[in-house]
Amino acid sequence: MTLNLDLGLKGRSLLTLDELSDGQMLALVDLAIELKERKISGKHLDDQRLLGRNLCLVFEKSSTRTRCATTVAARDEGATTEYLGKADIHFGKKESIKDSARVLGRLFDGILYRGYGHRRAEILAEHAGVPVWNGLTDEWHPTQILADLQTVKEHFGTLNGLKVAYVGDGRNNVCNSLMTGCAKAGIDFVDCCPEQLAPTESVLERARTAAKRNGSSVTVSHDPATAVEGCNVLYTDVWVSMGEESQFEERLALLRPFQVDMDMVRRTGNLDSGRVIFLHCLPAFHDCQTEVTREIGALEVTDEVFEAPFSKVFDEAENRMHTIKAMMLTTLVGG
Ligand code: CP
Ligand code: NVA
Repeated sequence: MTLNLDLGLKGRSLLTLDELSDGQMLALVDLAIELKERKISGKHLDDQRLLGRNLCLVFEKSSTRTRCATTVAARDEGATTEYLGKADIHFGKKESIKDSARVLGRLFDGILYRGYGHRRAEILAEHAGVPVWNGLTDEWHPTQILADLQTVKEHFGTLNGLKVAYVGDGRNNVCNSLMTGCAKAGIDFVDCCPEQLAPTESVLERARTAAKRNGSSVTVSHDPATAVEGCNVLYTDVWVSMGEESQFEERLALLRPFQVDMDMVRRTGNLDSGRVIFLHCLPAFHDCQTEVTREIGALEVTDEVFEAPFSKVFDEAENRMHTIKAMMLTTLVGG
């Protein structure tokens, strides 16, 4: 099997899905599916396409999946990784991001960045001189959505023509990127959220332009009773994203009616036919087993839904690795 790594992305950064053509995004998903098959069959042991490359992981926020997926993807292909946490580097504190970018770019072949305002990622990409990959900013989480699309395609065999309902904080990084990715894939997208947590007009407008191009739609609903009707993918995320912890009580009050439970899954109308799956980028508050939920119980999704056979959250988590590998190979090696 010859993998097509020549997607016109060599030397490019990836900060938002909007930077990719629709075809490039879909080809990255297909490449990830092929890379997964290769790993399952053990053939990846012959793959060392990134031998001699050194990758830097700059994380200003916590991570389990993104960090580990990037590390394993790099190791599978022969690259080394250096992890720099918030306390490890000067980055914007004792040194400008621009200066840190120029130093890291002299030493590393690629940089994965997780942090706060998206502008920080842009400055890093403008000055590093090597590909910079967005591992989550306050506004966007593009690598997550590549894995989500891979999971949906693996399950349904197609993307175009499906319907995704995202229920929860309708203006966070995951929702913004999911809306964009679905629109680019020709998937109907419903953002079901409280009015106070609706997406910005600019994010909506860009997604609607992509949806129009692909014959699909992007809508916003504030009614969890009806928004999920007919959806094939029910998606939620935490109600309080990293960096917003001070808004915890306020968010709980706003989002309680938007919890994904079995009644909501039934309202999709697709449970009996097996045409609905549940996705969550994780980490998820679905039980009392975390410090946050010990007293208050499940938040954005019930344990019953999270643990149900139609919940594909761990396929989704695994696919973070295959999609990040696809992104690194196409931007570092190319054709
Ligand atoms: N979904 C996701 O980005 O998980 P981590 O925060 O663990 O990286
Ligand atoms: N919206 C969440 C996603 C975590 C992967 C956050 O930013 O904390």
